[in-house]
Amino acid sequence: MSARVLDGKAVAAAVKSEVAEAVAGLGYSPGLATVLVGDDPASHAYVRGKRRDAEQVGMTSIHHELPATASQGEVAGLVADLNSDDDVDGVLVQLPLPGDLDSEAIVEGIDPRKDVDGLHPFNLGLLTLGRQGLRPCTPSGVLRILDHYEIPTNGQTAVIVGRSFLVGRPLGLLLSAKGADATVTVAHSRTNDLAAVTSKADILVAAAGVIGMITPEHVKPGATVIDVGINRTDQGLVGDVDYEAVADIAGAITPVPGGVGPMTRAMLLSNTLTAAESRRR
Ligand code: GUN
Repeated sequence: MSARVLDGKAVAAAVKSEVAEAVAGLGYSPGLATVLVGDDPASHAYVRGKRRDAEQVGMTSIHHELPATASQGEVAGLVADLNSDDDVDGVLVQLPLPGDLDSEAIVEGIDPRKDVDGLHPFNLGLLTLGRQGLRPCTPSGVLRILDHYEIPTNGQTAVIVGRSFLVGRPLGLLLSAKGADATVTVAHSRTNDLAAVTSKADILVAAAGVIGMITPEHVKPGATVIDVGINRTDQGLVGDVDYEAVADIAGAITPVPGGVGPMTRAMLLSNTLTAAESRRR
């Protein structure tokens, strides 16, 4: 193991204390509404963590649960109520939604000013245009880790494996935006000779949701490897990177757990603060 370990827990703690300090100076408590539909244990665990984080930084957690049998109209109606509730600054609908519920339509129903997940087409459009808006949490968490450890992106070759709307696509936009200035390739399950592509990367981001898919042959010696994979197994959480083997040749690496995961939660708080400040200005 020679790689520097990028400690997402420590960076997330720094973000949380910045947010707590800003919240203390607001004179009100920003409200973060969470909507949880159904009884998926992983989703329940995620939302519990987000609510706890919100309260730790002085925000108010407003939580709603609906049964897995809830109709599209019921979920949309709840989101509409939260949109018009003045005490609510951020609305987060935990994904995936169960059954036949149309997640895209639900997310599109969130007021873009309260879209603290940054997943509304309006906010993704602003990101595409390089304009200010609420950014998706996991991609902005990845940028924040790189920034914290002073890993340069300017002029660097970044390869992202995975093209999801939650991570891969928006991260490609953020890394190639003015200011970050990386040269970005978004690879995916149909990429020919993946290792030939990823082994060119100065910064390699694994966000495919496939356990251990990134092995030493995919990694340029000295590269920064960011593992976004959160795969639940009987042995606990594991990432998309074969950590032990890759840590021998990478220059820096994020662990799972304790890497990108805590950053996603921290950036949600940062977005909720931003949403409160701009809406209540
Ligand atoms: N499910 C997995 N990741 C996320 C996320 O970042 N936001 C929401 N709302 N649901 C998720």
